[in-house]
Amino acid sequence: MRRPQLLPWRTAGRVSEGHKSADDVVREIGWVFNNETGQTLDLQEFTSTGDHEIFAYLQAFQLDRNDLSQQTLVEIGSGIGRMTSGFSRAFAQVIACDLDAAFLERCRETVAQFGVVERLRTCHVADGRTLAVSDGEADLTFSYITLQHCQHDDALSLVAEAARVTKPGGYVALNFRTWRPVDVLLWPLGKVTRALWRVPRVGPWLARRRLASRIGWQANRLSPDEVSRHLATLPYKFATRVIYHSPHRKFSARKDADLRTFEGVNRSHWWLVAERS
Ligand SMILES: C[S@@+](CC[C@H](N)C(=O)[O-])C[C@H]1O[C@@H](n2cnc3c(N)ncnc32)[C@H](O)[C@@H]1O
Repeated sequence: MRRPQLLPWRTAGRVSEGHKSADDVVREIGWVFNNETGQTLDLQEFTSTGDHEIFAYLQAFQLDRNDLSQQTLVEIGSGIGRMTSGFSRAFAQVIACDLDAAFLERCRETVAQFGVVERLRTCHVADGRTLAVSDGEADLTFSYITLQHCQHDDALSLVAEAARVTKPGGYVALNFRTWRPVDVLLWPLGKVTRALWRVPRVGPWLARRRLASRIGWQANRLSPDEVSRHLATLPYKFATRVIYHSPHRKFSARKDADLRTFEGVNRSHWWLVAERS
C-alpha cells in the first residue's frame, strides 16, 4: 500500500494466475504491456510486437554491432515476456527482472514457446528497487516502459542498479517518460486514481479498469537533467552517453550527452543509451 502504483501490476499478475491458456492471459491482461485489446489476440501476435520493437531499438541504438549471441542481457520490467522471448533468441543469456512473480512464471512460459528457455533466468524484484544480479554480469541492461511506472526513488534506484549490473564496456538502454503539456491534467488525475486504489473494494475493482490503470500507473516523470544529476552521484561512470528522442519533440543540447532522434521513440519518452567505462 505504500506504493499504490504497483496495484495494477499485482492485480494483473493475480488475474494471469487464474488462466490456463497463455492466449487467454494475453486477451485478458495483455493490454497492460502493449495497450492492445481484442478477442482474437494471442501470445504469438503479442510476442511479435515485442520482436518488432526490440530489433528496431537495438539497431537504432547501434547495440547490434557486437556478437549478441555471446552476450548477457538484463531486462528490467520484463512482464510476461513480450520482448523477452525475442531477446532470448538473440542473446546467450537473458535475465528477466520483474516486480510480479506471476508475470515471471508467465514469462518463462512465453519464452518456452517463442524463445530459447534454456537461456532464461528470472529475477523477482520483490522490493521494486534492487536486482538480485551480480555486479558487472550484463553486457546490456535494457528497460522499456517500466521506469515511468515506478515510484520516483525506486526508478532512480533501478537506474543505479542498471549501472551496477552492467560490466565496464557494456551498455545500458533505459527508457524514461518526461513531462508533456497534457501532464497538467494527467498528473493530478493520476494522483486521484492512486488514492482511489487504496480504498477497500473500490480500489481492486478500479485497478482492473484499463483507462484508470493507464492514468494511475504514471508514477513519475524523469528528465535527462535529473537522471544526469543522479548518475553523477554513482560510483559507476559512463564513457559515452546518447539521448534518443522523437524527432517530433525538441530536447535542449547538452554537454554530457549527444542527442539523436529516432522515429520509433514516443514523443513523451526518451532513452539513455550509455557505455560503462
Ligand atoms: C508496461 S509493462 C512493460 C513490460 C515490458 N517491458 C514490455 O514492453 O512488454 C511494465 C512492467 O514493469 C513491471 N514493473 C513495474 N514496476 C516495477 C519495479 N519497480 N521493478 C520491476 N518491475 C516493475 C511491471 O510489473 C510490468 O511487468
